[in-house]
Amino acid sequence: MEVRKAVLPVAGWGTRFLPATKAMPKEMLPVIDKPIIQFIVEELIEAGIENLVFVTGRHKKAIENHFDVNVSLEKHLQEAGKDEMLNQIRKISHMVNPIYVRQKEQLGLGHAVLTAEPAVGNEPFIVALGDIILQEGERHVRNMLDMFKRFGKSIIALFEVDPQEVGKYGIAKVKKIGDDAFLIEDVVEKPTPEEAPSNLAIVGRYVFTPLIFDMLKSTKPGKGGELQLTDAVKLLLEREAVYAYKVESEVYDTGNPVDYLKTLMEFALSREDTAEEIVKFLRERLRLPEALS
Ligand code: G1P
Repeated sequence: MEVRKAVLPVAGWGTRFLPATKAMPKEMLPVIDKPIIQFIVEELIEAGIENLVFVTGRHKKAIENHFDVNVSLEKHLQEAGKDEMLNQIRKISHMVNPIYVRQKEQLGLGHAVLTAEPAVGNEPFIVALGDIILQEGERHVRNMLDMFKRFGKSIIALFEVDPQEVGKYGIAKVKKIGDDAFLIEDVVEKPTPEEAPSNLAIVGRYVFTPLIFDMLKSTKPGKGGELQLTDAVKLLLEREAVYAYKVESEVYDTGNPVDYLKTLMEFALSREDTAEEIVKFLRERLRLPEALS
């Protein structure tokens, strides 16, 4: 069966970014001038997924507004002759055909995905988390969809992290079964370095068979008392094969202030309109000699 839908859980409190996220969704934090959520949406749309199910909460109106038409802003840009910006703004509002599902209580990522069940139905789907922006994200989603066509079972994207960082992610134990394919043997949510079965972390892109919904229904609260998606994957492993896809390109974490800042720096250093100024600023700030470029 073809994958047509993606679920974007965006209802979390964003506690790691308070007070910035008191009234603003963390997914709307900008990477220079584009909100994080727009990167994820573009990645999915470019990979051919048009039906996006946002699992939202009370404080998330800004996300709905971002992907909606803003008539007065368009009028203003038109009158000011800012055609390029006008086109960009129009493109964003025509980008998605969204479905918004409300998660009434924030009981964890697993609960958020389960909340999307009525909108997804009995078909395979993608879950894309807003925490991480992937370099060449569209290519990775396409590769995962190809793998799904090949195996017909759930596919989870992983990336290698520093062994000291395993506590920030879901960690998987895998077995290599081909040049680019791995079988997942076990998963554990945010282990200590001693508990971690590897340094392969879940990067926040999943293709699931609908059986995950049944698993979520029988998952007990896990880490932090929350219903964890990783724990439901562990149950899924007892029922059917789950494959891993390895992301080898750059991974930009935006899920906590320090990694978010690193992501901002990466983008600032690679964008034509910002790189020169930022390099100059850093060189002066860090007192680096010209020769160290
Ligand atoms: C979630 C998942 C975790 C995954 C991570 C990727 O954690 O629970 O398994 O590795 O996203 O960003 P969170 O960052 O929401 O705590």
